[in-house]
Amino acid sequence: MRTTVGIVGAGPAGLLLARLLHTAGIDSVVLESRDRAYVEQRQRAGILEQGTVDVLRAAGAGARMDREGLRHDGIELRWAGRRHRVDLPALTGGRSVTVYAQTEVCKDLIALQLEEGGPLLFGAEALAVEDAGTARPRIPFRHQGRADVLECDYVVGCDGFWGVSRKAVPAALSRTFERTYPFGWLGVLADVAPSHDELVYARHDRGFALLSMRSPSVSRLYLQVPAGTDAESWGDDEIWAELERRFATDDDWTLERGPITQKSVTPMRSFVHEPMRHGRLFLAGDAAHIVPPTGAKGLNLAVGDVVTFARALVHRRETGSADLLDAYARTCLGRVWQAERFSHDMTALLHRAPDATPFEDRLQLARLERIASSRAAEADLAEAYTGFPLD
Ligand code: FAD
Ligand code: DHB
Repeated sequence: MRTTVGIVGAGPAGLLLARLLHTAGIDSVVLESRDRAYVEQRQRAGILEQGTVDVLRAAGAGARMDREGLRHDGIELRWAGRRHRVDLPALTGGRSVTVYAQTEVCKDLIALQLEEGGPLLFGAEALAVEDAGTARPRIPFRHQGRADVLECDYVVGCDGFWGVSRKAVPAALSRTFERTYPFGWLGVLADVAPSHDELVYARHDRGFALLSMRSPSVSRLYLQVPAGTDAESWGDDEIWAELERRFATDDDWTLERGPITQKSVTPMRSFVHEPMRHGRLFLAGDAAHIVPPTGAKGLNLAVGDVVTFARALVHRRETGSADLLDAYARTCLGRVWQAERFSHDMTALLHRAPDATPFEDRLQLARLERIASSRAAEADLAEAYTGFPLD
């Protein structure tokens, strides 16, 4: 099998890249090791930055998002019984975010790709990326029990943190930067209308809590739990009681309970692999970098990477110049490190480390007070939350 761009992984990065290339008239093949149902149902991110929404729309993948996505103009910070709303458009010259789940983005992109685009093979596991340093990189893979090889002009590794693409960068050229956190998020989906019409990020002495949503009738809620926690060790009533404690306010706000339909624990890490390119292999999304979820940057960063690659390849085709391809790693890493910084800061602002000292507790409260009382501090948060422009 032969193609211009071999794409490993059909998460949001791989699927969007295939769509962007298709609309530019560049052919690609996507290899995805799991089945379609798995990719469409894997519960993950929920918040799209303005730039991500604009890209999906321009790629012709925004119709259902525009009908069903929820535009949010603010978030609420909660601590010590207090509530503070951050007005996103007022602080950023009109930028907002959209609640539209990763599962739905993937469903929309898969449907488009199967209808209009090039091959998207489910159950196709890439075994390696070979000859990345040459003009003819290759991807040996297994599909439905048969061994095959995809020969490409370029390979884009969109295969997530556990994929094989990153391993094709020689160890002597690689550098990784990493931090793991001593806590994770217990995430639940519940069949109950969200108890607030915007997201609530709560700092509490017992740990962080987040109120989010998937639709006007489905809530998505998260609790900080110790690293390694088994989701099944938390009973439903226990989860609601803990959420109530952490979201408690001095006014009469209440948390509505409902049936919990799914629970899982997400570990938290910060990770960056440099460089993001080796020869004709380009890494994109979680294959190259991970952020802790606080602030919802993971999916949006993946979008930024593949937009940068698609633009660079189109530029190469139209002008013959490889300048933008050569700038890929530098362009992406600038944005990646800003997101790493923001996600780390939001995590440190709102989570309680197991060994937190009273001094650190007071610093967290002082930071929150600063955001609530300084327009400059609040604007700094709002700008990063709504996302830095893709250009
Ligand atoms: P992925 O979505 O990981 O997709 C990679 C794809 O590659 C997968 O489908 C995988 O099956 C496939 N693959 C792997 N190896 C191979 C191979 N050898 N051959 C072929 N295919 C392969 N972000 C947020 O903003 N908010 C959240 O609440 C949030 N929650 C998260 C929860 C979890 C458990 C995880 C892991 C991440 C979460 N994230 C969240 C991050 C966000 O979901 C990711 O940043 C986003 O999915 C990145 O997209 P991606 O396409 O780069 O990688
Ligand atoms: C969601 C996830 C996040 O990491 C976040 O900061 C906000 C919302 C969510 O899954 O809805």
